[in-house]
Amino acid sequence: MKKRLVVSNIGMLATPTGNGPRSGPRQGEILVLEDAWLAAEDGIITAMGQGQAPEDLLREAQVLDAKGSLVTPGLVDAHTHLVFGGWREHELAMKRKGVPYLEILAQGGGILSTVRMTRQATREELVERAQKALHTMLSLGVTTCEAKSGYGLDRDTELKQLQVMQDLEKLQPVELVRTFLGAHALPVEYQNDREGYLRLLTQELIPYIAKERLAEFCDVFCETGVFTPEESRRILEAGQAHGLKAKIHTDEIDALGGTELAGQLHAVSAEHLIAATDSGIEALAQGGTVAVLLPATSFYLNKPYARARDMVQAGVPVAVASDYNPGSCPSLNLQFVMNLACWNYKLSPQEVLTAVTVNAAAAVHRADQVGTLEPGKQADLVIWDAPNLDYIFYRFGENLTRTVVKNGIPVWEA
Ligand code: NIG
Ligand code: FE
Repeated sequence: MKKRLVVSNIGMLATPTGNGPRSGPRQGEILVLEDAWLAAEDGIITAMGQGQAPEDLLREAQVLDAKGSLVTPGLVDAHTHLVFGGWREHELAMKRKGVPYLEILAQGGGILSTVRMTRQATREELVERAQKALHTMLSLGVTTCEAKSGYGLDRDTELKQLQVMQDLEKLQPVELVRTFLGAHALPVEYQNDREGYLRLLTQELIPYIAKERLAEFCDVFCETGVFTPEESRRILEAGQAHGLKAKIHTDEIDALGGTELAGQLHAVSAEHLIAATDSGIEALAQGGTVAVLLPATSFYLNKPYARARDMVQAGVPVAVASDYNPGSCPSLNLQFVMNLACWNYKLSPQEVLTAVTVNAAAAVHRADQVGTLEPGKQADLVIWDAPNLDYIFYRFGENLTRTVVKNGIPVWEA
């Protein structure tokens, strides 16, 4: 028999609609149903409407009474560095003195210090650490999460990180999307042999990871002192040739041309974009590339906020994500990220909701499955301890979820 879930007594159901990214004015147009209900069977939404839920649906169903509250799609965190071997609180004093992020990396710290810790950690230790993080994310309303490798920078550790993500799929409910970020930094062993590392990535790791289906995306950190736009092109094209879809970390600190490259390659997403120029924004619009903006990283690195309004204006679909990692954003709180996006990007609550649901789903190539509440989509949703959408942007610093549902199953209760 089918397993049926009915969410009744919804005060406000708020959701974007459709199976793809929403840009321009459509970013802020959402469906709002007051006094609503929603039904799902075997984890897939089958019907929704207003007023009392139909009697025949309520029969033999698990009923969740939303008690007049807000219901939205489950949140999608489209950019995280979930799997890492340890924290970097030893950088706090340096950062407070104003030592720049790239300077810490150039001295062999930053990403490279997390690489040392991640190489040392066992697969089980990494699973335990990431599972704890995922549990907290889930409690905050996140039901799908992208996760990048990139703290191994050698064959075994990069594969270990991706395998940890596979392990996590079986251990907990948050759905993971795996990204290979072998080009996160040049490892110390290759400091005098860039070409050797590029060959390892493009000729060995990318083909193997694609063949074994260990990742779905390939990403590069295109930045001053890290990888150039030319190197980034070579890596992403190798990924695409093997069926790995392209993502790129670009314009986080300097605008080198990585955003233009993203558009030219029709990358699925370009991420960070703090320093993006008009030509970069234009290229994203032309390329159909989703801009994944990371306001908590601006907050933590004390940097400007990306030009979100200009991107919406230019017709670029904007997603907003956490960037959870031990260096530039040691927080996984997507609700705080939503507050920042509302206040510092000057996006409306409706635009931010789209940014953390369907546009984020599009940034991980899942917009036909998650990111909206509509028949045919996965029943991933949040019942909020809030009467309406404005409320969750008005309050901040506290977890406002009440119940989180993944694939039609309540998996977290306040
Ligand atoms: O997205 N910018 C590159 N990667 C991460 C930071 C990684 C780290 O500092 O450990 C980011 O901000
Ligand atoms: Fe990142």
